[in-house]
Amino acid sequence: MNERENGGGFYITTPIYYVNDVPHIGHAYTTIACDALARWHRTIGHVTRFLTGTDEHGQKIEQTAQKRGMTPIELCDEVVVNIQKLWPLLEVSNDDFIRTTEERHTKVVQYFFKTLLDKGDIYKGNYEGWYCLPCETYFPDAQVDERRLCPDCGRPLTKMSEESYFFRLSNYAEKLIAHYEKHPDAIMPQARYNEVLSFIRGGLQDLSVSRTTLKWGIPVPGDDKHVIYVWLDALVNYISALGYPQPGGLWETHWPNARHMVGKDIIRFHAVIWPAILMAMGLNPPLRVFAHGWWTVEGDKMSKSKGNVADPFEMTELYGADAFRYFLLREVPFGNDGDFSELGMAHRINSDLANDLGNLLNRTLQMIEKYRGGRLPADDCLTRAKETDRSVALTASRTIERMKAEMDEFALDSALKTLWALIAAGNKYIDETEPWKLGSLSRDDLREPEGRLDVILRTLWEILRLSAILLHPFMPETAGEIWAQLGLGPDAFSSEEALLSRWVWGHCPSPVSVKKGEVLFPRIDIPKWKDEKAQRDAGKRPAAEPSAAVPDAACGEKFDEIGIADFKKLEIRVARIERAETVEKSDKLYKLHVDLGTRKRVIVSGIREQFSAEELIGKRVLILCNLKPAKLRGVTSEGMLLAAEATEGGKTTYSLATVSDGFPLGSLIS
Ligand code: ME8
Ligand code: MG
Repeated sequence: MNERENGGGFYITTPIYYVNDVPHIGHAYTTIACDALARWHRTIGHVTRFLTGTDEHGQKIEQTAQKRGMTPIELCDEVVVNIQKLWPLLEVSNDDFIRTTEERHTKVVQYFFKTLLDKGDIYKGNYEGWYCLPCETYFPDAQVDERRLCPDCGRPLTKMSEESYFFRLSNYAEKLIAHYEKHPDAIMPQARYNEVLSFIRGGLQDLSVSRTTLKWGIPVPGDDKHVIYVWLDALVNYISALGYPQPGGLWETHWPNARHMVGKDIIRFHAVIWPAILMAMGLNPPLRVFAHGWWTVEGDKMSKSKGNVADPFEMTELYGADAFRYFLLREVPFGNDGDFSELGMAHRINSDLANDLGNLLNRTLQMIEKYRGGRLPADDCLTRAKETDRSVALTASRTIERMKAEMDEFALDSALKTLWALIAAGNKYIDETEPWKLGSLSRDDLREPEGRLDVILRTLWEILRLSAILLHPFMPETAGEIWAQLGLGPDAFSSEEALLSRWVWGHCPSPVSVKKGEVLFPRIDIPKWKDEKAQRDAGKRPAAEPSAAVPDAACGEKFDEIGIADFKKLEIRVARIERAETVEKSDKLYKLHVDLGTRKRVIVSGIREQFSAEELIGKRVLILCNLKPAKLRGVTSEGMLLAAEATEGGKTTYSLATVSDGFPLGSLIS
C-alpha cells in the first residue's frame, strides 16, 4: 500500500475523451479497466469514486462545427451522446460524468488560472513556434527537424506567433524529480516511469497556456482575447468534478487518493504538466498515473480511413459486454500494446468462458441437482473435510491474497489468470474426487463413508461462490448470473459493499437450493462463425453483396439484415417544423427550419408537390440527425425528414412520420 494513501479511499479517472471521434475499442479499454478497478475496490470495502467524461473545447470542435453549420456547443451536445450511451452497455459503473463545457468545470479552470496568475506561476509573454493543429501543441525548435512534421502525429506543423500566457513549468523540474524519486510507483509501468524521468531530467520549458487563435475555449479571466489552452482546461476536470475548491467538497476526501488511468500517448500531460500545476496550486500530485498500451486491430493501426476501427457497440451486441470486457482485460499484460482480433476473442470465449468457467458451474450444479435434489449440503459437513478438500480451500484463500496484490499493481490480466487458476483447480478437483462414482451409490452404502459426497459438492459450491465475488469486477453480469444459479439471490452485487471482506469459506446462513439456469457461454462453432463473419464483413462494404441481403417477403424488396448496434447508429429525433421556404430552381424541394428543442436545423426535403407550407408548420416530425450533411440545389441539408413513400400509378405520395402533439422536442427514437 502506498504510504500517502488516505483511509483506504480509491479515486480513479479515465482520460476525458474528445467528442469529435466515434468511440472505439481504445476508449472502451481504458474505461473498462477503470471500471474493473473501481468495482474491485468497492468489493473490498474501500470508499471508491470513479470519474469519466468528455473533453469538448478546442480547435477541432470549433472547425468541425463550422463545417457543419452549427455552433460548437450544438455539435458537442449531439456527439456526446455517442459516448454516454456506450458506457451503460458496457456495464461501466462511473459515479460521475463530467463535460468540460459544464459551468461546474469552467469556473474551476478559471479559478486555477487566476490563482496561478496571482502567484506569479503564470505570466504573459510572446510565443513563436511550430504548432500542430490536430494535436493542439507547440513544439520547440529542438524537437522539429527540417521536414517540419509533428513529432507526435507526423502531420505538417504550422509556424505561429502569438501573445500568450505561460506557466512556469521550468520551475518544477527539480520538485518533480524529487517527488518521483520518493514515489517510484507514482508512474507505472516502470518503463513509463523511466521515460518520464529522463524527459524531466532533460529540462523543462515554460508552457504556453493560452491561445488567441480560437474562440471555442474557456476565456482567460480578465483578458478574454485569450482562451485557456485546452490541455490545462482538460486536466482540471479530475478535480473540478470533485467540487474543488468548495470547503467540504468531495475533493477533500478523494483528491489525496487520485489515480489516473491514461493511454501511453498522453502520459506526459499527466505525469509532468499536471503534477506541476497541482504543486503550484498547493495540491498533492496524483498518487499514480498508469499508462496502458495501445491496441491495433488485426495487426493494423486503427484508422477511420482504413475502416478497421473495432466498434465496441458491435462487439457488445455480438458477444455480450462481459465476454468483450474479459477479452480486453485478459488478452494483454496490462501496460503492454495488444492486437485485437475477433477470432482471438471467439477462441478465448470457447476455452476460458465456455469450457473452464461454464463447465465448473454446470458440472457442479448438475451433480447437486442429481444427487441432492438441488439442495446444498449444509456447511457443517465441512468439518469432515479431508486433505484434498482443505487444499482447494487453501488455494481459494491464496487466490484472494494474490488478486489483491495484483490489483494493487493494476495487473488486471494477472488477476484474471490467478482467478482462472482457481477455476482450473475446481475442475481438477472434480476429476480427482470423481463424485459421480459416489453419487451412484446409495446413501448408506459403506463405500460412501461419512457423507463424502456432501463434502465434495459443498466444496465445489464454495469455489464457485468465491469465484463469483472475485469475477464480479471484471464480468458483473456473469457474476450475478452465477450467484443466482448458486441459489444466492440475484442482487448480491447491487451494492458491492465490502462483499469480499464478508466472504467466509463455508459460511452461508440459510438452507440453499441451487437453480441451474441457462448455459453461461454457449460454445462458438468456429467454422460457422467464420462464415458469418465473412457475411458481416461483406455487409459492411459500401455496395452490399446479394448474398448478404434478406428478401422481405411482404414487400418484395431486399434488405440487408442489421444488428441492433447498426440501428443504434441512427440518431432519429423528434423536431417541430418552424418554417418552410421554397428552394430556388426546384419545384419539389423545401428548405425546412426545424426545432430540435436544444438546437435548430435546416433540412432540405422533396415534399413540396404534396404539402403546403401551412400544412407543415407546427407538425412534429422525425428527423435523422446524424446523416452526413449534403448540398441540395445549393442548400446544405443537415439531416433527413422521415416519411413513408408509396408509388401508385406512377405517382409518388408521402406520409410524414410524426409523433403525438406536445411530445418533447429532441426525443430520441429507439
Ligand atoms: O487524448 N488503444 O482524448 P482522446 C488503446 N481528450 N487506447 C486507446 C487507443 C488505442 N488504439 N486509442 C485511444 C484525449 N485510446 C484527451 C485526453 S485527459 C485530461 C484529456 C484511449 O479521445 C487512451 O486511453 O484522444 C487514450 O489516452 C485515450 O483513448 C485518448 O482519448
Ligand atoms: Mg487521441
